[in-house]
Amino acid sequence: MHKITLILGDGIGPEVAEAARRCVDATGVQIDWDVQDSGAKVSEKDGDPLPARVLDSIRKNKVALKAPVTTPLGEGFRSVNVRLRQELDLFACVRPCRTLHGLKNAVEGVDIVIFRENTEDLYAGIEYTAGSDDTKKLIEFIGDTKGKKIRSDSAVSIKPISKYASERIVESAFYFAESNNRKKVTGVTKSNIMKESDGLFMYVAKEVAKRHKIPYDHVLVDALCMKLVQNPLQFDVLVLPNLYGDIVSDLCAGLTGGLGIAPGANIGDEYAVFEAVHGSAPDIAGKGLANPTAMVLSAAMMLNHIGEINAGKKLESAVEEVISEGKKLTCDLNPTSPVKTNEMTAEIIRKIR
Ligand code: NAI
Repeated sequence: MHKITLILGDGIGPEVAEAARRCVDATGVQIDWDVQDSGAKVSEKDGDPLPARVLDSIRKNKVALKAPVTTPLGEGFRSVNVRLRQELDLFACVRPCRTLHGLKNAVEGVDIVIFRENTEDLYAGIEYTAGSDDTKKLIEFIGDTKGKKIRSDSAVSIKPISKYASERIVESAFYFAESNNRKKVTGVTKSNIMKESDGLFMYVAKEVAKRHKIPYDHVLVDALCMKLVQNPLQFDVLVLPNLYGDIVSDLCAGLTGGLGIAPGANIGDEYAVFEAVHGSAPDIAGKGLANPTAMVLSAAMMLNHIGEINAGKKLESAVEEVISEGKKLTCDLNPTSPVKTNEMTAEIIRKIR
């Protein structure tokens, strides 16, 4: 029996979490779900969207399946996702982007795995508010040491990139590439402009690549976006700092059928949290319109992680069969005759064998 934390989240979170739980249970793997709530609703009640009990549960169980959580824009509490990744040191965000047979709009044959650094970069959460005393001091310091003038009404966000964090994410990407017979690893930065932070990531990636046999190349993030749209088939494993990884993940999700089908995992040395790439989708919450696939495929990744490889494969195949048949799909995949979240989930469960 595996004990796993299940975080329900906000918006469509509870709907897709329930769908994923039903699918995992249908594989026959024995799981004792430790159900936890987190997010905007919890914040109103407990004053913290990520109460200690949620972190304690993941620390105890080591593995969590997490539904999306709302983050207020610009103000309010800090992202629960960013906090989780930092507090549990879930340094590798792994996002497979693969064309599933049967989706009409997707480019055929895309099979990219993204390794996004998860703990630093502009997502480190080190931000200075416009007009505050600390910001004034920082602006003065930068003027004195760099001779650069920053406008006095600026807000400032800090972008730390360390050798340590860069090395471990690149190593993970190579380890994955080698253990899964992938063809190539591509490092992605904007090192022509950010010569220090991105320059360090690029340098470290090149050094790590020398220790491995698999081919390595480097591409600037702007060029990558163009090339991905023109010909995504030229890419295999991508390794990127945090912000670029976030943006490129959505681009690749768009290339392979949209956010409704894009799974992901946040992995560290001790803990792992599996979650879809998409957010809480407040525009469709509570209407039964959410596509359960991204969460279900994240759950399949979780099954692989806990050693239930067979069950993970069964679940993946069931999803692929439902999508390739194209009859019981939610409206993001089939706008003309869609079914509800529950019906698509039931169809996936029917195909598990
Ligand atoms: P979103 O991913 O929630 O939605 C973007 C668009 O995709 C919407 O039109 C939505 O309806 C659609 N969509 C998303 N998931 C879908 C699904 N399973 N089935 C069908 N359609 C789906 O991104 P948005 O609107 O920018 O963010 C909403 C909230 O989610 C924000 O508070 C954001 O901070 C949060 N968020 C949370 C994440 C997490 O918990 N891991 C990740 C990304 C965003």
